Amino acid sequence: MAKYQQLVAQIRQQIEADVWTAGEKLPSLREMVKQSGMSLMTVMHAYQVLESQGFIVSRPQSGYYVAPGGEFLTQPATHQKVQYTEAVDINDFIFDVLQACRDPLMVPFASAFPDPELFPQRQLMRALADVSHYLKPSDAINNLPPGNLQLRQMLARRYAQQGITISPDEIVITNGALEALNLSLQAVTEPGDWVVVENPCFYGALQAIERLRLKAVAIASDPQHGIDLAELARTLQELPVKACWLMTSQQNPLGCTLTPEKKRDLVALLQQHQVTLIEDDVYSELWSGDVRPQPAKAWDTQRQVLHCSSFSKSLVAGFRIGWVAAGEHAARIQRLQLSSTLSTSAPMQLALARYLDSRSYETHLRTMRQILAQRKNQARQALRRHLPLAARINASHGGYFLWIELPKQVDTTALYYRALARNISIAPGNMFSSGKQYQNYFRFNASWAWSDTQEAAVATLGELIAEML
Ligand SMILES: Cc1ncc(COP(=O)(O)O)c(C=O)c1O
Repeated sequence: MAKYQQLVAQIRQQIEADVWTAGEKLPSLREMVKQSGMSLMTVMHAYQVLESQGFIVSRPQSGYYVAPGGEFLTQPATHQKVQYTEAVDINDFIFDVLQACRDPLMVPFASAFPDPELFPQRQLMRALADVSHYLKPSDAINNLPPGNLQLRQMLARRYAQQGITISPDEIVITNGALEALNLSLQAVTEPGDWVVVENPCFYGALQAIERLRLKAVAIASDPQHGIDLAELARTLQELPVKACWLMTSQQNPLGCTLTPEKKRDLVALLQQHQVTLIEDDVYSELWSGDVRPQPAKAWDTQRQVLHCSSFSKSLVAGFRIGWVAAGEHAARIQRLQLSSTLSTSAPMQLALARYLDSRSYETHLRTMRQILAQRKNQARQALRRHLPLAARINASHGGYFLWIELPKQVDTTALYYRALARNISIAPGNMFSSGKQYQNYFRFNASWAWSDTQEAAVATLGELIAEML
């Protein structure tokens, strides 16, 4: 490793270990030359690399500083804590935004998917090719719900590594997490039932509620601490809620993760009111920090929590493989799957089991997490450079989304249309709520490799926002 690379690695480790915290001044070039015993050229090169990676920023005539980690936004006091919606109507707008991301000329900051270049395409294709050599006609039958046994065993072992005991028999393989979530909701509700969601929340929850003709009660989620448990408790006293669809880690769009204590209390509260928790945990592998957060499912002593996840965000989007650890509900979910999509594609299940058997998943995940952290930093720096000072970027725990608050007068749906005309897509706040509280917010996908195109697109966003102020 070249000397400047050693210094880059050393300073990065120190920033990650909070030796230098966000916004703090680093030793000057001269001080670092003295401390490290390296030449001025080497130290300068290392600082420039760290700056290009988004870990530090230079301030003219002042020196180098650790890049700000972002701030936790606070829920404005004016926001409604609980919002009741008897008929959710959100599908058309979401469809339009998602369709726009398909245009190859678009800079896809609205996309929900991570940059596909981060996936181990070659190894996945090799696994698929290997499987095609021994695929039998009977495999379609053998892999019907609950799905491929080897894959379910591997998932059960991954839960076991986190200290959670789940039998492969409780797991149902699905077409992505979306099918897992939709089947879970269908399994525990009847049309007209109340379902708790967060505000803001993943639009898929609102779409499912609309499709199944359910009623939504949205509880405010704080950008740093997540759902307000006191409000949830009050709502559960007032309404005959059937299910609660939540993200407890790397919440989409906020990026926040509940503390272990809060996850424990959430499960206890829902158990007390006999409300089923549908836990959406699709970003679970993209955590940051030293320890992987456990899902709320870890505190489920009654096998009532439906824990839904997939490989779509961490390994491969196109295979469409997800699952639900469904506990007591596994048999009902299988029946619902058999009568709707029938099953998940057998070759894809087999190829995924083959890939996971190669043991390269953990190495891939480590690299992906590192790159995403770096890219999120770079994107945050660029947004800071080009967005007005009044814009606030939420600090997120892992994942690749940034949740951005703009001054009140900027309607991000109007901004979305203006940006679209310049081939840039953003995900406006209205996608994540059945109300209008998040009209001046947007979600930004920070997983893309930073290039002149991204920089120019963020600069354009900055200009469009300035025009709207
Ligand atoms: C929060 C959340 N849940 C579920 C899904 C759906 O995941 P999958 O692609 O595995 O169906 C997404 C995809 O965007 C998501 O963001």
